[in-house]
Amino acid sequence: MPIETTASVVAEVPDDAELLAVPYASDLSPAVDLHLPVSDLLAHYEAKGEAGEIVEVPVARGGGIGRVLLYGVGDGSPRALRRAAAALTRRAKGRDTLTVAVPEGDVTAFAEAALLAAYTFRIGEAGKKAVRALAFAGADEGQVRRAETVAHAVALARDLANTPSSVKDPAWLAERAAEVGLPVEVWDEERLLADGFGGILAVGRGSASPPRLIQLSYTPAEPADRHVVLVGKGITFDSGGLSLKPTDNMKTQKTDMAGGAVVIAVLGALAALGAPVRVTGLIAAAENMPSGTSQRPSDVIKHYGGRTVEVLNTDAEGRLVLADALAYADAVLDPDAVVDIATLTGAITVALGRNVGAVYSSDDVLAKQLVEAGQSADDRLWRMPLIEDYTPALESSIADLANVEAGSRFGAGSITAALFLREFAGDRPWAHLDIAGVGRSTVEEGTLSKGATGFGVRVLLEWLTRG
Ligand code: BES
Ligand code: MN
Ligand code: ZN
Repeated sequence: MPIETTASVVAEVPDDAELLAVPYASDLSPAVDLHLPVSDLLAHYEAKGEAGEIVEVPVARGGGIGRVLLYGVGDGSPRALRRAAAALTRRAKGRDTLTVAVPEGDVTAFAEAALLAAYTFRIGEAGKKAVRALAFAGADEGQVRRAETVAHAVALARDLANTPSSVKDPAWLAERAAEVGLPVEVWDEERLLADGFGGILAVGRGSASPPRLIQLSYTPAEPADRHVVLVGKGITFDSGGLSLKPTDNMKTQKTDMAGGAVVIAVLGALAALGAPVRVTGLIAAAENMPSGTSQRPSDVIKHYGGRTVEVLNTDAEGRLVLADALAYADAVLDPDAVVDIATLTGAITVALGRNVGAVYSSDDVLAKQLVEAGQSADDRLWRMPLIEDYTPALESSIADLANVEAGSRFGAGSITAALFLREFAGDRPWAHLDIAGVGRSTVEEGTLSKGATGFGVRVLLEWLTRG
């Protein structure tokens, strides 16, 4: 279920709003004349003007009592406004309409966060519903429509990743991709075999649900000067395969297609946002399961384009499906830049934690663009190094490469995974986003809900539509 809360624009702050939110500055002066002793009230409640702070005041409305939510906006930065907006939506839970006098500053960021905070994923009817409607007073229509498009894209990515793996298999993911309304091409096993996608096939071999490669194509109305390929990891469940995960690590792995979900959601939003770039999305989808038909640790597989890889650990499967898609993009699609996004390594959670994603890139300009887009879109990225000394970690004595380090001399699990992917991206500007740490949230807070976060949608949309 997507975000059910509606968003509309109203020209002025209505006198009779049942539930009205009004910002106040750090000097505690309200932005709208409310015929209330606002400064005294705020002083009484010891309000400081911080973002996320809300002082609720009952007011006479018609025959009954309405409420005004006085809200702080901190330093007025997009980050502070997002925080303020999310707090308002959460406070309005279970209510009908929240009318919000919008603050000074980035109204798009504000409205986007207000909508995202209304996201819930539930199978069944239990629980309190989010506020039914948000009315933004004093916003312009364009700001709110952009916010809505972006928030709905994030919600789609979350929905896909939150869906249980008993429902979503690679074929199901291909059906969902086809629904975004763009030209779609799907490789089934037969075609994967015919075209030599040995990595995707090897990972999918153990599952009763066969793998797919999914391609979505967006072409802008005006001729584009740039072609970008986005590649998403689409492991619909990662048990580890024969290198089986322990239960506690396995139970989160329905979201191992979060990168693929981001690619589907981003492609689906490009037209509405008027992106001027041609974009091809590739989702490498497979279920990684142990069975009598699974690939074995020590098998050697052949990737798209002919490179051979010794599979020393079947749980390092993401890089195997991505390698095929990256090699295909390089050989066939002729892009100006390739960006892959994947819940690739537990190691990146150790390095950067749950709030900041990793970007690796062979290209300084591309890395900088993505870090900056992430900063403004609130999907924060930190550039990680491709440390050349560690490339021997992936040497194999019998194949071109090994998928993991045989011993433990080098460590650096997220970096060596990125180095592996680099081998398949060709000489093109390439970036890799490792979102294993940020792909799911353990808290219900601000714009985040428990479970899939949709991390990556906002940074990529920002990069593709505003860069
Ligand atoms: N899907 C996992 C990475 C992951 C871990 C995502 C935790 C989200 C939360 C990936 O396929 C994996 O299993 N990586 C291994 C690589 C190792 C075998 C080299 C890992 O990180 O342990
Ligand atoms: Mn794995
Ligand atoms: Zn995985």
